[in-house]
Amino acid sequence: MRKKVTVVGAGNVGATAAMRIAEKELADVVLVDVLEGIPAGKALDLAEAAPVERHDSRITGCTGDYSAAAGSDIVIITAGIPRKPGMSRDELLLTNMKIMEGVVREVAAVAPEAILIIVSNPLDAMCHVAYETSGFPKARVMGMAGVLDSARCAAFIAMELDVSVENIHAFVLGSHGDAMVPVPRYTTVAGVPVTELMSTDRINAIVERTKNGGAEIVNLLKTGSAYYAPASAAVEMAEAILKDRKKILPCATLLEGEYGISGLFVGVPVKLGARGIEKVIEVSLNDDEKKALHRSADAVRGLVEAMRRLRG
Ligand code: NAI
Ligand code: 2OP
Repeated sequence: MRKKVTVVGAGNVGATAAMRIAEKELADVVLVDVLEGIPAGKALDLAEAAPVERHDSRITGCTGDYSAAAGSDIVIITAGIPRKPGMSRDELLLTNMKIMEGVVREVAAVAPEAILIIVSNPLDAMCHVAYETSGFPKARVMGMAGVLDSARCAAFIAMELDVSVENIHAFVLGSHGDAMVPVPRYTTVAGVPVTELMSTDRINAIVERTKNGGAEIVNLLKTGSAYYAPASAAVEMAEAILKDRKKILPCATLLEGEYGISGLFVGVPVKLGARGIEKVIEVSLNDDEKKALHRSADAVRGLVEAMRRLRG
């Protein structure tokens, strides 16, 4: 039977993710948005590209109607407002919280067995909203951020060392925000720790650039935030699930004691397969890395508490 992926939010990230899923023939794609005409128009445009791109994925688009999403294997949620220059991800909290609650209610009603990949910001907080609203088990609710942040770090290292991106394995933990935790000790180039190949100053510069990777693009685009790399990252997660690849990827997941953190969505390496998050991978961290990860978790806790206050 054909797999189905629904992408909610037919904006920059959502439409690009839909295109990549279709072109990789991972699944049929349903695009949903609140905007009139946009999801149907983008879906038709993508369907008309299929004969040239040579794939048989079916793409449909709907406005406000979730019936076509029924029985989806995966739902990628990108609905919300993106950052503008000078805005932090956290400033999106109230608006995107309400949007996420509404979207997840609709999705859970028609696709109760789906795996949710959350993209909307502030990412870790939105995972909490999706988890609580859906009532899905934690293995089926996850956030995309670590794959993107690691990809950015890997891209910067590849540029610096003038080597193939395929040789780089970057390792970024924590929340998707200023408190994210790139871990150079576990970042390798063809298996060699990057700490043996680059000076501490250059590594620190790349760590900082990774942390500011989202803002760097917002400042260049001026009208929105990054979408090509974010879409690729979400699709890598979807592919690992659809093909039951058991791939180890950094994803936001609900921790229940792992890494000494409980009751919070935080980015850590997990095994992704047909059942969603099949295992949280615990790696040993030194004291500085542990402290940084806990600071990152504290940032998520702050947002979760802020949401509780906003709900009253
Ligand atoms: P965009 O503005 O291009 O697209 C968002 C779409 O969501 C719009 O088409 C809008 O009409 C739609 N939408 C709004 N309310 C909706 C609702 N109730 N139901 C269905 N659709 C609704 O924004 P973009 O660039 O695609 O970003 C989407 C979100 O993803 C933003 O919150 C952004 O901050 C976040 N993001 C997260 C990343 C991550 O690493 N986790 C990376 C990049 C973006
Ligand atoms: C990014 O990192 C804005 O979260 C988005 O590009």
